[in-house]
Amino acid sequence: MDRYVVFGNPIGHSKSPLIHRMFAEQTGEQLDYSTSLAPLDDFSAFALGFFHEGRGANVTVPFKEEAWRLADSLTKRAQRAGAVNTLSKLADGSLLGDNTDGAGLVRDLTVNAGFSLSGKRILLLGAGGAVRGALEPLLAEQPASVIIANRTVEKAERLAELFADLGPVSASGFDWLREPVDLIINATSASLSGDVPPIASSLIEPGQTFCYDMMYSQEPTSFCRWATEHGAAVSMDGLGMLVEQAAEAFFLWRGVRPESAPVLAELRRQLAL
Ligand code: ATR
Repeated sequence: MDRYVVFGNPIGHSKSPLIHRMFAEQTGEQLDYSTSLAPLDDFSAFALGFFHEGRGANVTVPFKEEAWRLADSLTKRAQRAGAVNTLSKLADGSLLGDNTDGAGLVRDLTVNAGFSLSGKRILLLGAGGAVRGALEPLLAEQPASVIIANRTVEKAERLAELFADLGPVSASGFDWLREPVDLIINATSASLSGDVPPIASSLIEPGQTFCYDMMYSQEPTSFCRWATEHGAAVSMDGLGMLVEQAAEAFFLWRGVRPESAPVLAELRRQLAL
């Protein structure tokens, strides 16, 4: 049976095996997908060992940059993202690196939530790997503007420069902004500690602004709660992005696009237990 894994460290709580097993069942694809705890000091050798037999791998924290360096070739979006979350063994034995995170985000917003990004004013909170992965797919939707706001402003400035040729992208500090935007995406890890980036609530136009947190949890995240309290039209968490980035990877490996809705519903059900 074709073997796939998700590399990470730690990796015990990954939902990827469950998601890909449901995709496989649904599409009738025969594959085996499991977690793989890669060593922190020797990811490359470990991953190459797996690919003697293995067909594909997802890559999560903290190995996405190492996977980017390991890949023999990169998709355009992975090249820009500077990080790889999906490795695929090609017919000639070489490894193709892709990054499906940003595409997963865009698909969750545009298809699942029905929110068109074209012509919209987008505010991205954070300037780490998650934002870097999201920028090209977001700019490809032709928004009116993308502002990257970060605690460390220089990091936002560097990203804005790096993507300036792809669209209207600029950098900011959290507390420089007042005017409402159409979409706020939280890509900081602040929710992990129950924090919300210190941005003005006037950025939310009550009943209009769409708020999205790349994180998810059983209870609404701190950012989603903050958004709801200030009248956001929608406050959505990142569970759909998780399923959609997996669906993109599955499509890359198998050439079949699984249906994400039933898988998302099952994950939501399990999260509530
Ligand atoms: P990821 O790959 O998930 O993007 P990362 O590269 O470590 O993770 O980036 C984490 C992001 O969350 C950064 O933008 C970080 O801000 P700094 O660049 O200033 O460090 C942001 N972040 C983490 N904790 C935060 C907090 N409590 N408040 C605001 N921003 C926070």
